[in-house]
Amino acid sequence: MVNPDFAHEDVVVRRGRRTGLPVIVAVHSTAPGPALGGCRVLHYPVWTDGLADALRLSAAMTDKSVIAGLRHGGGKTVVPLPPGAELDARRRRNLLHDIGDVIDGLGGRYFTGPDVGTSAGDMPVVAERTANVFCLPREAGGSGDSSPATAEGVLAALRTVCGDFDGRAVGLVGFGHVGSILARELASAGARLTISDADPGRRAGIEALGARWASTEEVLTAELDVLIPAAVGGMLTDEVVAGLRCAAIAGPANNQLAHPGIADRLHERGILWAPDFLVSAGGVVYASGVEVDLLGHEEAIARVRGIGDTLAEVLAAAERDAITPYAAARRRIEGLVAAGR
Ligand code: PHE
Repeated sequence: MVNPDFAHEDVVVRRGRRTGLPVIVAVHSTAPGPALGGCRVLHYPVWTDGLADALRLSAAMTDKSVIAGLRHGGGKTVVPLPPGAELDARRRRNLLHDIGDVIDGLGGRYFTGPDVGTSAGDMPVVAERTANVFCLPREAGGSGDSSPATAEGVLAALRTVCGDFDGRAVGLVGFGHVGSILARELASAGARLTISDADPGRRAGIEALGARWASTEEVLTAELDVLIPAAVGGMLTDEVVAGLRCAAIAGPANNQLAHPGIADRLHERGILWAPDFLVSAGGVVYASGVEVDLLGHEEAIARVRGIGDTLAEVLAAAERDAITPYAAARRRIEGLVAAGR
């Protein structure tokens, strides 16, 4: 969440030399270790909305790394595209080089990876301008696409929240890199899925899984065992929360709460909210496990599954102290920071 005071170590906004687009890199903290966070290329009404998003997202990455026990701080890259702007292959490549130059200028204090609007396939292009890139292909010494690991962490969190998936009514908002993997896994485990996506072109792929295609509004007001936010942030507004009919919420979208008070509204309504910065940590846990701690695939995935155990501990602490899961997660983070993690 945004700290009303300036809480970031570095915020760089530079006009890309090749594209003229603003490249924003927010380094929230390097106290636990070098900042880590993905690179988001997305349309925003005005570029300063992208700046605000970079500040929020990078702060959330610190929470994510710390609660997952990683020796990383949080950072994020955002390139706000003007509404309607499309990038052809050449301009996209130029943009990835512009991004690489800005990241390289931070001298190893920030490492990037894929995020909304970029993919693991883009990382080798960024890496032509800087070495500070996670998720390069295996052949290039990286950990590859982080989406399956992110999905694995979400599944572990979902098991903690609702146990077995068979026969469960599950709503999913966002059928992207992570959402589509979750949908496949949940469908094959027998969940009854209702799915929305901002792109109507994804309808066929959703229906091919035997899931029901719906509008986002329908998913957000459906009677569900669990709702999975897997699109962009800020979805849980006061208005949306008032209309929810789900028992629990757990998903990979970053910054799901429109403001921190939403955690209290959800709690009052008896809806269990699994903190997004914990649920979504699988990608960074895996990438850091493989690339920094040199774990093998299975060991790194086992670490990702630990997200389910951490969530169980957070939920138990919330219950014990009669506070929200969000507050319990924050206490845990404060404890880890104080202990020098
Ligand atoms: N972008 C993802 C996140 O928000 C995942 C990621 C970032 C993975 C950086 C590896 C490195 O956590």
